[in-house]
Amino acid sequence: MKITVLAGDGIGPEITAEAEKVLGAVAKRFDHPLELDHQLIGGAAIDATGSAFPDATLASCKGADAVLLGAVGGPKWDGGAVRPEAGLLALRKALGLYANLRPVRGWAGLEDASPLRPERMRDVDLLFVRELTGGIYFGEPRVEGDERALDTMVYTEPEVRRIVRKACELAKLRRSHVTSIDKANVLASMRLWRKVATAEAKNHEGITLEHQLVDSAAMRLVTEPAAFDVVVAPNLFGDVLSDEGAAITGTLGLLPSASLGDAGPGVFEPIHGSAPDIVGQAKANPAATILSVGMMLRYAFGLEREADVVEAAVEATLQAGLRTPDLGGTTTTTAMGDAITARIAGSD
Ligand code: IPM
Ligand code: MG
Repeated sequence: MKITVLAGDGIGPEITAEAEKVLGAVAKRFDHPLELDHQLIGGAAIDATGSAFPDATLASCKGADAVLLGAVGGPKWDGGAVRPEAGLLALRKALGLYANLRPVRGWAGLEDASPLRPERMRDVDLLFVRELTGGIYFGEPRVEGDERALDTMVYTEPEVRRIVRKACELAKLRRSHVTSIDKANVLASMRLWRKVATAEAKNHEGITLEHQLVDSAAMRLVTEPAAFDVVVAPNLFGDVLSDEGAAITGTLGLLPSASLGDAGPGVFEPIHGSAPDIVGQAKANPAATILSVGMMLRYAFGLEREADVVEAAVEATLQAGLRTPDLGGTTTTTAMGDAITARIAGSD
């Protein structure tokens, strides 16, 4: 397992350190050789090299089996010539990671943490499949002006087709229901999205496809979250809805992600950001990053059993009552990581 580690900014180094412990424990217990290469991205890379995505980082990622990422960004780099986030976007684009998988589920024992009533959270188990290398994040022209600024939302038929295909394939492994998110009542690019989604879904027997406008999907995520199975969304809408989806579980600190292309290494990262407000206070919840290691084991290495062990260790640790401050507890980042690692090293 040759893995490039991009700790990045803010709490990134704190949480990736715990995820590395977990990788070490998995490697040892299941006898997989493990090689980690630490590289710079985001603000840390800007400070050291002037670039948010240095060539050495790209080279290491391209040569790896998978990439583990912490977080990028922070107020320190606001207003600078280069933004840390540009490093993350460049990484996604350079590796062709068009499919971003963000699973949302309720956790036994954490029903109280949700801002929603417990009965609404029952049976919540959904998977966001966010388009990650197109849409308004990458559209040209883009104008950065003081009087007028401009972004362009653009989608092409092949871009929509491949992400909807991915969503349908993943749905077959689940409950075979796909909700496609758009804003077809207003935007031309979204009318294309809806048309292509309809056509592609017909190629997948047994899949039911529904279309939902992004505004009403945002509402339904809090009124009826258990109604969703796979939710396929354009880049920007997927960004917004997946934070909302995380929040209904009670914390952003438990949501992992996998960013995948058709070939080559994927990137595995928590969906929360760099959390500048809690840096260096041992308050960050490492579970989302550790669960991202679980997704890495499953998707990058095909190690289902190892992935199950990691997820079970997180679940058991939560059930044992360990809670970082995002969940109202006082467990430190390191103590949480150590407890999860110990279960992997020694249990079942
Ligand atoms: C995410 C983040 C990123 C995004 C930022 C940090 C560029 O919010 O991964 O959801 O907008 O994609
Ligand atoms: Mg986001």
